[in-house]
Amino acid sequence: MKHRFGTMVAGIVAAASLAGFVAGAQAQQDPLAVVEARKTELKKAGDAMKAAAGFVRDGRGTAADVQAAAATIDAVAKAFPGWWPEGTAAGLGKSEAKPGIWTNPDDFKAKTTAFQTEAAAFVVAAAGGDKAAIGDQVGKLGGSCKACHDAYRE
Ligand code: HEC
Repeated sequence: MKHRFGTMVAGIVAAASLAGFVAGAQAQQDPLAVVEARKTELKKAGDAMKAAAGFVRDGRGTAADVQAAAATIDAVAKAFPGWWPEGTAAGLGKSEAKPGIWTNPDDFKAKTTAFQTEAAAFVVAAAGGDKAAIGDQVGKLGGSCKACHDAYRE
């Protein structure tokens, strides 16, 4: 018993230092890697939107597919605020981020919050399984993507 407890403590200590290492690695991540990573995540949201629109318009896939798409978009929306350090505007790598993100931070934040609200509502609509409600929410969510892209994406 004593021995097992020791092993458990060792495991917890190892996990804690690993978490510290990961957090440190993120803080030091170079701007180019930040751009690449956020593009990869946003592409997942784009693919999920296509899947949801395909369900609504053409009856492609199942309600479970829409639920998975909603979970993907919701995860992107939640992580989104951490992806915009200064120094990652267009001009760096393949970034298409307009400088307004950093000169109009309040508006960018408001558009981010709207996105998060619509993404959370989409999770609820997807869980309900009603096609008309899902279609309605896909429209609202898409509007929140477009509002930001029109202002802040090249
Ligand atoms: C608050 C602002 C904002 C919201 C909301 C937003 N985006 Fe974006 N999105 C951006 C910006 C800025 C870029 C450009 C990022 C870059 O190039 O580094 C981008 C890029 C993208 C890309 C291109 C990724 C690539 O491969 O280059 C896709 C796809 C995308 N967004 C999908 C979505 C979808 C789908 C939604 C809604 C469900 C959404 N975005 C909501 C700001 C936003």
